[in-house]
Amino acid sequence: MQTAKHAKPHAKTPRQPAVKGNGHSKHTGEDFEIDVRALRERAREHLDEGAVTEDYRADRDAVVHMLNNALATELVCVLRYKRHHFMATGIHAEPVAAEFAEHAAQEQDHADRLAARIVQLGGEPDFSPDGLSARSHAEYVTGKNLRDMIRENLVAERIAIESYREMIHYLGDRDTTTRRMLEDILAVEEEHADDMRDLLDRE
Ligand SMILES: [Fe+2]
Ligand SMILES: [Fe+2]
Repeated sequence: MQTAKHAKPHAKTPRQPAVKGNGHSKHTGEDFEIDVRALRERAREHLDEGAVTEDYRADRDAVVHMLNNALATELVCVLRYKRHHFMATGIHAEPVAAEFAEHAAQEQDHADRLAARIVQLGGEPDFSPDGLSARSHAEYVTGKNLRDMIRENLVAERIAIESYREMIHYLGDRDTTTRRMLEDILAVEEEHADDMRDLLDRE
């Protein structure tokens, strides 16, 4: 399907023909043309590559590796929040335990999104428990009491925030779909960190 948008500030301006050459689109001044024939031909080649087209500009192996490390981080976060949810005890435990459960579910959603994107990029999501915590950026720390647990989660969230920001910076505009997904996840991690800090203040 053609996705070209033609800027037509003056209705009577004759349309410039697409500049042919390497078969890629040319953007000159106000005109935006896609070489549709070449585009259609490229789309028919390498169908096994799925969503990854010839103009994918990032290093696919590096991106898959990076996303697998993020996946490991999310899985470790799911496990830590689950543990904390079930182990939260004490007079203030109930709302905190509920918060832990909510975060665990959101970390699981992040893991699912990362795994789906890895497959879309032609990679394989690594769910192996062997070496999971080594692959993860954040640590699995059980915490002795409620306050400890909250603090450990805040530490893990801050690690996640920084690593997602680095990944986003690394991708730049070379893979905007992955970057957008990481930006969405980052926003949720920032909320998580905020939630944990609020809980620490309330303790
Ligand atoms: Fe997450
Ligand atoms: Fe988080």
